[in-house]
Amino acid sequence: MNDITILAVETSCDETAVSVVRNGREVLSNSVNSQIESHKRFGGVVPEVASRHHVENITTVIADALKTADITMADIDAVAVTEGPGLIGALLVGINAAKALALSHQKPLIPVHHIAGHIYANHIEEPLKFPLLALIVSGGHTELVIMRDHLNFEVIGETRDDAVGEAYDKVARTINLPYPGGPHVDRLAAEGQDSLNFPRPVLEGYDFSFSGLKSAVINTLHNKAQKGETVPPEDVAASFQASVIDVLTQKTFEALEEYHIEELIVCGGVAANKGLRARLDAMAKERDINLRIPPLNLCTDNAAMIGAAAYYYYVKNVRADLNLNGKSTLDL
Ligand code: KG4
Ligand code: ZN
Repeated sequence: MNDITILAVETSCDETAVSVVRNGREVLSNSVNSQIESHKRFGGVVPEVASRHHVENITTVIADALKTADITMADIDAVAVTEGPGLIGALLVGINAAKALALSHQKPLIPVHHIAGHIYANHIEEPLKFPLLALIVSGGHTELVIMRDHLNFEVIGETRDDAVGEAYDKVARTINLPYPGGPHVDRLAAEGQDSLNFPRPVLEGYDFSFSGLKSAVINTLHNKAQKGETVPPEDVAASFQASVIDVLTQKTFEALEEYHIEELIVCGGVAANKGLRARLDAMAKERDINLRIPPLNLCTDNAAMIGAAAYYYYVKNVRADLNLNGKSTLDL
C-alpha cells in the first residue's frame, strides 16, 4: 500500500494539538500548545476559557505542524480529528478546523475516539501486539480495555465517578498544590509515609470508584484540623497515592490473569506517575507480563496519538461528512 499521511487535530480538553503522522507510526510533527498556565489560577480547566484558547491557537498550531513536518496540505491524504469524549466547546473548535481543512483541500475527514488515541500512543515506538490489556488513566478517564485486533475495543471496567487524574487534582488542591496536581502529589508522595490508612475502594468486577477515597482524604484532614492536629502533606500524598496504586494494580493484574493476556499497555496523563510505574514494572516482571508505557509527551493529550489511531480508521474506510458533531460522551 502507498504511504498514508494524516494530519490529526486534538482539542478535547486543554491542549491545542496538531500532528502529521505517516502510516500510523511515523510522527513527522507533533505540535502542542498547552493552556495549563491559563487554567492554573482557577485550579482546573474552565471549559469556556479552553474553547477560547483553542480558537486563538488552532491555526498557528496547524501551520506549525505542517511546517515542522516540511509538508503542505497537497501531501496530506486525510484529516483526522477527535470526535469525543471531551469538553463539547473545545471539541467543536478542532472539529470545525478539521472540516474546513478537509473541505477546502478536498480530503477525507476521519473521526477518532479520544481513548483510542491514548491507546495508540503506544503504537508509535513499537507496534501494538494483540491480545492486549490497556489501562487508561487520565484526568477524564479510568478504564480497562481489551483489544484483540486493531480498533477492536472491549471495555471491561471504568470509573463510576471520578477519574483517577481528577482525584489527584482534587486531593492536590486540598493540600494547596497548584493545578495540575498529579505531578506534585507524585513528587511529595516519594518523601512521605503511607501513615493515614485510607480505604482501598475495590468494586466487584473491574470498575473503579475514586470519589470515596477523595472524600476520605478531605474528611481526615478536616477531622485532624478540628482536633488541632496537623498532617504532613507528604504523608497525605503518600497515603493517597498508595491507595490509588494498590487499587489500579490489583484490578489490572487480576484482569490479565482472568483473560490470559500477557501484553499490558498503560496510557493517559497519570501513566507519568513514578510510583505507579515502579509498581507496574515490578509486578509485570514477577508475572512475565510485557509492560509498555509511552514516553511522557505521548502520555498526556497530543495529536500524534490521534494520527496513529486514525490510520486504522482510514484503512477501515471510516469517514465523517461535514455534519460531524462533537460528542462530550462517546462509547469506545
Ligand atoms: O491525559 P491527560 O493529559 O489529559 C486528559 O485526557 O485528562 O491527563 C491529565 C491528568 C491530570 O489530572 C494530571 O494531574 C495527571 O494527568 N497527571 C499525573 C501525573 N502527571 C499528570 N497524575 C499523577 N502523577 C503524575 N506524575
Ligand atoms: Zn486524554
